[in-house]
Amino acid sequence: MKYLLMTIGLTSALAVSGAASAVNITLDCGPAGAGFNICKAGAERWAKKTGNTVTPYETPNSSNDHLGIIQQQLAAKSGDIDVYQLDIIWPGLVGQHFVDLKGKIPATDIAQHFPGIIQADQFDGKQVAMPWFTDAGMLYYRTDLLKKYGYSKPPTTWAELASMAAKIQAGEQQTNKAFTGFVFQGKNYEGLTCDALEWIKSFGGGTIVDTNGNITINNAQAAKALDTAASWIGSISPRGVTTYQEEEARGIFQSGNAVFMRNWPYAWALGQSADSKVKGLIGAAPLPTGGNGAAAALGGWNLGVNKYGKNIAASIDLVRYLTGPEEQKIRAVEGSYQPTVMSLYKDKDVLKVNPFFGTLYNVFAAAVPRPSAATKTKYNQVSQDFGNAVTSVLIGKAKGADAVRQLAADLARVKGSGW
Ligand code: GLC
Repeated sequence: MKYLLMTIGLTSALAVSGAASAVNITLDCGPAGAGFNICKAGAERWAKKTGNTVTPYETPNSSNDHLGIIQQQLAAKSGDIDVYQLDIIWPGLVGQHFVDLKGKIPATDIAQHFPGIIQADQFDGKQVAMPWFTDAGMLYYRTDLLKKYGYSKPPTTWAELASMAAKIQAGEQQTNKAFTGFVFQGKNYEGLTCDALEWIKSFGGGTIVDTNGNITINNAQAAKALDTAASWIGSISPRGVTTYQEEEARGIFQSGNAVFMRNWPYAWALGQSADSKVKGLIGAAPLPTGGNGAAAALGGWNLGVNKYGKNIAASIDLVRYLTGPEEQKIRAVEGSYQPTVMSLYKDKDVLKVNPFFGTLYNVFAAAVPRPSAATKTKYNQVSQDFGNAVTSVLIGKAKGADAVRQLAADLARVKGSGW
């Protein structure tokens, strides 16, 4: 993986505002792809307005590898990257390295965002990041194929999903051997934690660790959820699903080779783009339930200012701009990034391109957080242990009941006398 540094040339803007006070800000724009380009374009708009320049920084694909790089840089007190994007689960892990934005970003700006996300961006009483976009797991389906096989609506239970997927897969495979029923994030990484949390929560099996820090994973419903997911592998989902992250799943769905996909909202804009084979054929629904309601994992990305950076004031201004309503609207329209600015859910342009922001609003509003607040600096270990346990069930090495019993014991060791 190469981490590219690219400087946006903005000489004309510099000339306008006077180069003497202009600074260059390095901005973490995430992995290469559409998201990186949209981030870069937003930074360019800010640069043009202020006369500064921005160097977008490219990170690896998975949230885990992204975190690894950030932790290394911050442990060395490196100021090379001024503004980082932080996964919603990270403020407890890296928050001490970020500037407190309280009082620096106006309270009226802060009040425009969902209060729960503002709170998730706090660490030790400090506002260490500002919400940029939120994420919630959802079910994508092929409207044309549901119709073709006689279904009038998407599945509402996992059992329904499995039977619909099996029937459609059998039919489509007669002419397309590559066709599969259901793709999701089955690789052992942070994405699997999100998907498996959704299965377990929707079966009534809790959230691994509850908000009080109690380890709750060792229960029959959690075991059942994992056994159910294991039954998909090699039947309605390809065996390779245990190597898929978001982009692998999207690639299969978008090339027309799956009827169902679990993914985040960003996949909507790309699925409806000109080069998508399924443009105009995609429906969006809440994820199915295992009997305890639909559960969408809460994800999302936030922007924080590196306290070791050299241009703190300009960095704060960039964060304020990028997380503000104007920029969030552009990102929602162009990339289906779910705004954190509440008023944008009433914006006609946003809803026209992303009708599911309206229809799934209640699901998104009730999205289930991973237990990062309760487990604090140990969250990463909790998530990794959880991922290992889930993987052991998905690949048939363990039964759900044994896996959750063993996981609870492992987590108790990680917790020790407290999180
Ligand atoms: C998305 C979510 C993020 C999550 C990641 C897992 O990027 O926004 O919160 O950790 O997916 O792959």
